[in-house]
Amino acid sequence: MALTLEKEQQRINCQKVSPTWGIPSLLDDVRDGLLQSPRKLPAKYFYDDHGSQLFDKICDTQEYYPTRTEDALLETAASDIIELCKPKHVVELGSGTSRKTRRLLTACEKHDCQVKYWPFDVCEEIVREASENLVDEYQWLDINGLVGDYNAGLEHLPHLEGNSLYVFLGGTIGNFEHEAGVSFLSDLRKTMSSDDMLLMGADRVKDEDVLNAAYNDKEGVTAAFNLNLLNVLNREIEADFDSEKFKHHAFFNQDESQIEMHLIATEPQTVKLSALEEEINFEKGDSILTEISRKFTFSTLRSMLEEAGFRLDEHFSPDNNYFSLVLASPV
Ligand code: SAH
Ligand code: AVI
Repeated sequence: MALTLEKEQQRINCQKVSPTWGIPSLLDDVRDGLLQSPRKLPAKYFYDDHGSQLFDKICDTQEYYPTRTEDALLETAASDIIELCKPKHVVELGSGTSRKTRRLLTACEKHDCQVKYWPFDVCEEIVREASENLVDEYQWLDINGLVGDYNAGLEHLPHLEGNSLYVFLGGTIGNFEHEAGVSFLSDLRKTMSSDDMLLMGADRVKDEDVLNAAYNDKEGVTAAFNLNLLNVLNREIEADFDSEKFKHHAFFNQDESQIEMHLIATEPQTVKLSALEEEINFEKGDSILTEISRKFTFSTLRSMLEEAGFRLDEHFSPDNNYFSLVLASPV
C-alpha cells in the first residue's frame, strides 16, 4: 500500500507559474474596487479551498445546467477531439477539480494517446487534490500541476515538447469582461504553436428564467459561494464583515447579456478593513459586484475567438443550444 502511494506521488509534480507582468494584490484590488463606486471585486477571490469546494457543489445542483450540459457534450465529442488533435499534452486553464477533463483522458486512453496533464489553477489545494484523484484513476497518467494567476500572463508556462490541447472549460471565459477576455485569449494564442489547439466551453444566451434559476439554486449553494468571499476578506485583509448582514443577489442583465452576482447589505453598517486601516460605510441596499458571467450567441462567441486570433474548427452544442464547446486553432 505504502509503495503504491509512493509511486503515485512520483507521477505528480506541482510548480508555481511566475507572473509575466505585475498584477494587483488583494489589497490593491480592494483599494481600486471595494473602496470605489460602484463597489466590485475580481471573481478569482472566490476560490480559496472552501470556495473551490462550494463551486464543485454548485455543479451538482439541479438548477446549474452548464456542468452537466458541457459534460454530456464532452462525453460525445471527446473521442473525435482527441483523434483530430492527437495531443502530447493537455493543458487546462482554471482546472478546478478537473471533473469533466476525465472525458478527454478516457478518450486518450481509448486512442492510446499517452498525454501528460497540466492542470493550471489559482487554488493550489484543488490542483493537488485533483491530481491525487486522477493518478489513482488513470494508472498511466503523469501530472504536472501549475499554480498561478492566468491574468498575470502565460509566458512562463513550461515550454512543452510536442503539441498541446489547451482546455478552458465551464464557461469561465464568461467571467471576463469582453476586452479582458479577448486579451486573455490573445495571450494564450501567442504561447501556442501552429499544431496546438484550444478546446473552450462557453455558456449561451437562453430563457431568462433558466439563467436566473442557475444562479439562485434552492439549496442556497450559490449564495454560500458568493458570501464566502466575505470570509476570504476577513481572513486575508483582517476585515470584520458579518455575512449575516449581506445577502446574495444574482440576476440576468439582458442589455449586457450577463449574469451579475452581487452581495447586498441588508442593514446600515460599518466594516473595518484593518490591513488597510480603512472603514466602509454601507447603507441598506448597497451592493458589491462580485462576478459577471457573460452569455454568448454563436456569433458573439465566434467573433471573440476571431478577434483573439483563432479559427473555429468544430462547434458542439446540444439541441437546446444551452452551451457551446468549441475547438479552435491559432490562425
Ligand atoms: N474548469 C472547471 C472549474 C471552473 S471554476 C469546470 O469547468 O468545472 C473556475 C476555476 O478557475 C476555479 O477552479 C478557479 O480557482 C480558477 N480561476 C479563477 N480565476 C483564476 C485565475 N485568475 N487564474 C487561475 N485560475 C483561476
Ligand atoms: C466558473 N464560472 C464559469 C461559473 C459561472 O457560471 O460563471 C462561476 C459561478 N458563479 C456562480 N455560479 C457559478
